[in-house]
Amino acid sequence: MVRLLILSGLTVATIATLLAAVLGPWGWWIPAVGFLLLLLVAVRDATQRRHSVLRNFPLLGHMRFFLEKIRPEIQQYFIERNYDGKPFDRDQRSLVYSRAKGFKGDKAFGTELDVNEPGYEYFVQSVAPKSAPQDEHRVRLGGPDCRQPYDASLLNISAMSFGSLSKNAVLAMNKGAAMGGFAQETGEGGLTEYHLAHGADIFWEFGSGYFGTRDENGHFDPETFREKSNLPQVKAVNIKLSQGAKPGLGGVLPGSKVTAEIAAARGVPEGQTCISPASHSAFTTPRELIRFVAQLRELSNGKPIGFKLCVGSRVEFLAICKAMIEEDVTPDFIIVDGAEGGTGAAPLEYQDHVGTPLVEGLILVHNALVGAGLRERIKLGCAGKITSGHDIVRHIIQGADFCMSARAMMMAVGCIQAQACHTNKCPVGVTTQDPKLYRALDVADKGERVERYHRLTVEEAGQIISTMGCEHPEELTREMLRRKVTATQSISYESLYQWLRPGELFEGVEGGWGEDWDYADPDRFTAGHPGKYVFNDRGPLTPGGVIPAADREFALAGAPSAGSTAGAGAAEGARATSNAPAAPRAAGPAPEQVSAEHPGESTPGASRRPEGEPGTTPGAQHTVRDPAPEPGNVDPADDSRTRNPGLA
Ligand SMILES: Cc1cc2nc3c(=O)[nH]c(=O)nc-3n(C[C@H](O)[C@H](O)[C@H](O)COP(=O)(O)O)c2cc1C
Ligand code: SF4
Repeated sequence: MVRLLILSGLTVATIATLLAAVLGPWGWWIPAVGFLLLLLVAVRDATQRRHSVLRNFPLLGHMRFFLEKIRPEIQQYFIERNYDGKPFDRDQRSLVYSRAKGFKGDKAFGTELDVNEPGYEYFVQSVAPKSAPQDEHRVRLGGPDCRQPYDASLLNISAMSFGSLSKNAVLAMNKGAAMGGFAQETGEGGLTEYHLAHGADIFWEFGSGYFGTRDENGHFDPETFREKSNLPQVKAVNIKLSQGAKPGLGGVLPGSKVTAEIAAARGVPEGQTCISPASHSAFTTPRELIRFVAQLRELSNGKPIGFKLCVGSRVEFLAICKAMIEEDVTPDFIIVDGAEGGTGAAPLEYQDHVGTPLVEGLILVHNALVGAGLRERIKLGCAGKITSGHDIVRHIIQGADFCMSARAMMMAVGCIQAQACHTNKCPVGVTTQDPKLYRALDVADKGERVERYHRLTVEEAGQIISTMGCEHPEELTREMLRRKVTATQSISYESLYQWLRPGELFEGVEGGWGEDWDYADPDRFTAGHPGKYVFNDRGPLTPGGVIPAADREFALAGAPSAGSTAGAGAAEGARATSNAPAAPRAAGPAPEQVSAEHPGESTPGASRRPEGEPGTTPGAQHTVRDPAPEPGNVDPADDSRTRNPGLA
């Protein structure tokens, strides 16, 4: 609409002034030529494919670039620094934009971060780094009962529904994922034709609304599930329990956004507001949840089944672990979403104040699975503001096996962080159902951007792992990540947090973990009893702020050796596992269960982590990718240190 107004207005003005110039005094030629030039610029803007803003708002869009241009000056004096913008700072955004364009995103002159500030984290590199890996590290999703395991990338596209995303955004991400050999998760809005269009690997997610697999009463429909989950593109199924930005809230899609297409994809009436209930009807207890996992695995003919949650009550998560043990059924993966995660729309109170932040939730889930002797059967994914190779490696050290990213992928397809996703007026067509806006998002171009962003980011993660002297993520240890806790003291993650040994929960852990484990009941979710919770029961600091001597971390602790904590942990781990009454079955599918589609060799690697810790599950794979063009290091358009990040 705006585009047409601009073009027609300029056309009328040009014709009128030209006529006046031809018929009247020569002075009319000045405005006539001016309007003609503006019209030419507007036509060029409307037809070019590179800048979505200009395609939708020819000429006017330049105002945005102009304002962005003077913004650094305003910002420099009054508002934000490169590293403290919200939710994603300029350094993060410019990195995504540069990589999406095929540049590594190198910067000049050194860090802008205060490396002595408490909270600053850094990796411990080796004097003898390894060469960067030729192949991408992959992570096998597939526990003992899985018959069609999937080797996932370290970074995949996190759940975002068609409905919250435009069809062009879904298509572009699908194309990028297909080109790059990684997975796209559907979001709870259902598996649509756009998720199948380019042949990407798909994680099919559904939530409490069972969209796309529901009966007329809105309950789970096994037959529809069987049919869709057996599609070859569906590599894994994810039950959404909760989402970091709005845990405990069902989604709401306003009737105005429920187009015929969306109604068909979700199996709901067109034009009516579409609400997913706060909780699932397919299960009401931890045991029923785990039986549901087993049912889905059978219906899908043995595909990896997982669930996603933003951690709330530790007691409830431990109750789920107890249910796994008693039923002898485990999900193949769990994805932990952080409270800092994104959403298409949610109340600010929920975004700001409900749910556990990612690092805390991830460490809690990792610890619970290790302590319950289940960790080696389940792969852990995580999501929450992951944009860089540094984020990937950091979260692997904290307990994850693989990462999911939503908003960075949105940026790769053109999101400029206008934060208007809930208005249906996204200026670059990413989160709108308005065809006049999403037409600007060119699927072919943005698909390539997604592929490039993913490839360069995963490569950077591999490079960092090599720099730390490791050949595989399995070899990373918690000593390799340190955090400044005061201006003069750093502590490694090994010392900073309490880490349970495999099976330790069965031995009776003193304090919060033990109490919560005793209270956890596999036959009820203990709403209203989240437990007496101290996250880091051990705590790094004494009340006086002095780090106990045993926990002090100085240079020597950075290079794990045979006698290091990791080595000791391995010995303890082996002891604890043999004592654990759960007698967990071995992780990973038996060789005969591995489908012909996934014949990859098992490369357990010489892990220095305690048994049962992330990455130790046999089956983590290296897969060879097609050689990609060598990226340039510096994006010539990235002037983010002086100007706005090169806009998408
Ligand atoms: C527009 C949008 C839509 C989303 N829709 C879903 C959804 O349908 N299901 C879900 O589990 N998570 C959904 N999420 C959450 C993301 O999958 C992800 O867990 C979260 O945003 C954290 O990742 P990020 O920080 O990389 O964005 C959505 C996020 C965004 C930004
Ligand atoms: S540009 Fe703004 S409205 Fe569009 S997806 Fe990004 S944050 Fe949402």
